[in-house]
Amino acid sequence: MDQAPPQSKVRRQQAGSTTRAGGPLRGGEQRPAASPAGGQEDPDPLRILDPEVHREDGAEDLTLRPRVLDEYIGQERMKSNLKVFIKAARERREPLDHVMLYGPPGLGKTTIAHILAHEMSASIRCTSGPAIERAGDLAAILTSLEGVGILFIDEIHRLHAALEEILYQAMEDFQIDIVIGQGPGARTVKIDLPRFTLVGATTRIGLITGPLRDRFGIVHHLDFYPVADLVRIVERSARILEIPADAGGAESIARRARGTPRIANRLLRRVRDFVQVGEDGRITAPVAERYLERLEVDRYGLDRLDRKILLTIHEKFAGGPVGVNTIAAALGEEPDTIEELYEPYLMQIGFLDRTARGRRITPRAREHLKVVRRQGQGHLWE
Ligand code: ADE
Repeated sequence: MDQAPPQSKVRRQQAGSTTRAGGPLRGGEQRPAASPAGGQEDPDPLRILDPEVHREDGAEDLTLRPRVLDEYIGQERMKSNLKVFIKAARERREPLDHVMLYGPPGLGKTTIAHILAHEMSASIRCTSGPAIERAGDLAAILTSLEGVGILFIDEIHRLHAALEEILYQAMEDFQIDIVIGQGPGARTVKIDLPRFTLVGATTRIGLITGPLRDRFGIVHHLDFYPVADLVRIVERSARILEIPADAGGAESIARRARGTPRIANRLLRRVRDFVQVGEDGRITAPVAERYLERLEVDRYGLDRLDRKILLTIHEKFAGGPVGVNTIAAALGEEPDTIEELYEPYLMQIGFLDRTARGRRITPRAREHLKVVRRQGQGHLWE
């Protein structure tokens, strides 16, 4: 792949956003004539289950962020491998090899980048693919890494393809070529860079070109967290924030957090608000469940839009298979938003199947939504 990857719109728009029927579609799908399920009717600009960072997460999320690998809960295989690589690099007095972290948002990619810096006693500079617009921006970042150690590029799949070439040379040779002057008098000057570790993070590993991916010596996929790990994360956060919560309360929150620590911590804070204002005193299972129901988060951690996606497939497209563009148009959502923020979790809990012919809802999802497959819907082998 030698083109710039398509720009994801997910981060520039909140869920519940603005696409209407009529815009261009990918993959030759037909867009339905109208937008029947009407995603625009109740935009939810601060969706509580959004795995992306919200401004309100800010300072407290930083307080909760583990600083060293031993404080980090879950992702055991990644942790134990990183410990070996860190120890070996430290013994050799070399920077760590370049690291690529990929997986759904909210699972801790940025946290790990900061932990790596801490464990390597290095400082870290953070930027993101879309923030680096021109070759000059990248050159300025790379040539000012003296004493930095770790360069973190979030959303690295959104880096322009033309800039990848510069990054390759920087990653491999710790050098870049800079063109000075213009026209026939222009000349190229090689500039030596300080040795550094690039930590790249992406939610879309498929959009990273082969040559870029090959230059990362350490590549880790972050998985959704099992409930047991999320319980420990909620208990740790409750301790740090001095929120009274018992084991049942922590588990109720963990079960609804879609495998995502950032969501678990956000739900904990919202339930804390109710408990603080009400008379419950502490977060127990019934207390957490009561308040999470008020926030329209159900026992699988689904919110209104998740349910709407599933119900739209069931009601308007006979359970599927149906393409993501068609679903997105029917809901007035961006296909990228559905693909990146909703589908991974719905697939993870076995509510949605992604097949070559499109998306289908599963019997398990129908059971949860209390809907039945009508005659002629779905397939014999379902
Ligand atoms: N807070 C958010 N993610 C965490 C994790 N993986 N371990 C501990 N605390 C966390």
